[in-house]
Amino acid sequence: MKVGILNTGNIGSRLARAWAGAGHELLLAKDGEARKLAPLLAELGGRARPGTFEQAASFGEAVLFSVYWPRTDAVVDAVGDALDGKVVIETMNPLGVNEAFEHYHDHAFMRDNSTAEYLQQRLPRARVVKAFSLLAAPVLEAAAWAQSPLKANVFYATDDPQAGQVVRRLIEDAGLTPINAGPLSAARQLEQLGVLMHQVAAHEYDGDADLIRLGLAVLEANPGPVIRERVV
Ligand SMILES: NC(=O)c1ccc[n+]([C@@H]2O[C@H](COP(=O)([O-])OP(=O)(O)OC[C@H]3O[C@@H](n4cnc5c(N)ncnc54)[C@H](OP(=O)(O)O)[C@@H]3O)[C@@H](O)[C@H]2O)c1
Repeated sequence: MKVGILNTGNIGSRLARAWAGAGHELLLAKDGEARKLAPLLAELGGRARPGTFEQAASFGEAVLFSVYWPRTDAVVDAVGDALDGKVVIETMNPLGVNEAFEHYHDHAFMRDNSTAEYLQQRLPRARVVKAFSLLAAPVLEAAAWAQSPLKANVFYATDDPQAGQVVRRLIEDAGLTPINAGPLSAARQLEQLGVLMHQVAAHEYDGDADLIRLGLAVLEANPGPVIRERVV
């Protein structure tokens, strides 16, 4: 499949590597400093080439939309109508960033909205699917799980079941397990879960966000038969 990567950053570069390994053809766009793409392009060889946001959006049958939240409007403006009809995989958390590069959740926005619903509203003819928003970037590839008997689950949410099927396959192609979390509005709960994970990381793990994201993402552990009857 042709996949456009709208922003080959922490998340986009991991998924680009995984999807190139699964045989997909990629066009990589980079927010920030484009020269930082050179090592990844060299690594992926003929399976990926660089381009603008608009070129990546036009190229992909599926397109990863993975930019910093405050950059959303600028990137949507840059792609024009190139995402019409496309499966758009949205990874964002509603985080602001201050000048010291400290991140903070936009709680006022989160009360009755989500980045996924906002993006769908900005791109009414795109087929938006929320996914990959809860795993820290370094554990987004199967290679990160090579020493583990478990695989990470990746929740996705969409109002377009066929787009959801495309994203299921792309999650599997990244070596991870897709979990259907329901309609696009479930993005609100996924984004709130991100807040909870940050809080647990801060209070239980001394701020080691990677550790807790890893822990909460592994939901595949099977306790065996579970007795549901009420015991009095
Ligand atoms: N990263 C994660 O673990 C993670 C997990 C779940 C969801 N998400 C969401 O996925 C979307 C993409 O995130 P991403 O992390 O992949 O974005 P990213 O593209 O790696 O970073 C976004 C922008 O911030 C700049 N930047 C990154 N780190 C920086 C630093 N330490 N100092 C100064 N500038 C820095 C980058 O510029 P340069 O690259 O040019 O320096 C780039 O322009 C976001 O909406 C995020 O909330 C991320």
